[in-house]
Amino acid sequence: MILVVGGAGYIGSHLVKELVEKEKVVVLDNLSTGHRAAVDSRAIFVMGDLGNEDDLQMVFRSYPIKAVMHFAANSLVGESVVNPLKYYQNNVASTLTLLKVMEKFKVKNFIFSSTAATYGIPEVDVIDEKTKTAPINPYGHSKLMVEQILADFSKAYGLNYVVLRYFNAAGAHESTVIGESHDPETHLIPIVLQQLLGQREKVSVFGSDYDTADGTCIRDYIHVTDLAAAHILALEALLAGKKSAEIYNLGNGLGYSVKEVIETCEKVTGVKANVEMADRRAGDPARLVASSAKIFSELGWKAERNLERIIANAWKWHQNQQY
Ligand code: UFG
Repeated sequence: MILVVGGAGYIGSHLVKELVEKEKVVVLDNLSTGHRAAVDSRAIFVMGDLGNEDDLQMVFRSYPIKAVMHFAANSLVGESVVNPLKYYQNNVASTLTLLKVMEKFKVKNFIFSSTAATYGIPEVDVIDEKTKTAPINPYGHSKLMVEQILADFSKAYGLNYVVLRYFNAAGAHESTVIGESHDPETHLIPIVLQQLLGQREKVSVFGSDYDTADGTCIRDYIHVTDLAAAHILALEALLAGKKSAEIYNLGNGLGYSVKEVIETCEKVTGVKANVEMADRRAGDPARLVASSAKIFSELGWKAERNLERIIANAWKWHQNQQY
């Protein structure tokens, strides 16, 4: 049995949908940002909180958990700046509680969702795992702190783990039964698609004076189903007995500017966006593009889906959004 904490969230629910094809799955989620309807019906759902030791003990006592995949975190950079307590409490302290209970029940396999925000404002064009980590906000710090905790637990207690640093997760499941649904929505692609559907008046481009070819920020967009596939390969490696204390970047290796993303949305959907240029958003690095060469050479993973596919799947989801 695999425990997926945060399995009702955007990325967690896409992972669960793939994982139930291979393993028995129990999802623990407090539904603070996730959706019950997003959890595949083949998974067992437990409503509970990661920071509550009793909830966790109940799950570990009830099910023979052999690995834990951890998606349950807050992930809004701006919110983390104004409310760092929430981020250190939910992302760091609650994870520590989870790791404590795992150690008590001798569960040694762990997969952790980390982020490109651990790199801060990188000095290189393409970021690999050796690039210096230097977060510039509490969200990035909270994820990097957990990475440090994992390294120490690995040495002291023999925890086997894989850290996956996501770049810009986007898209929706091919079936269009699940997709991205945040409230508030802050991410570029859903915001553009909502505008194209008439659910928003306009798209604001946050900054057009960056040191990039068209002046807008460049990001590496990765399909959420490709992310799910990477998690499954990492899990299979751990379950096969691989000793691991590894960190992998997950991206496409291709950078698209905000303007290019909007143009691609227009091309894929055939609808013209109402766009305005706006001020920079605090804390946005000009460019974040991943090298995923390490996970390709060690686990054989690479992104299969390009930006057009990401947008086409997200467009279908947004046109018929279920939750
Ligand atoms: N953007 C706009 N207008 C919008 C929304 C976004 O111009 O309405 C721009 C942003 O300024 C940024 C780009 O589009 O340049 C992408 O923004 P997103 O909010 O979609 O994604 P981020 O790159 O800011 O965030 C992602 C993850 C975070 C993570 C961060 C690391 O979603 O969890 O990368 O930097 F922390």
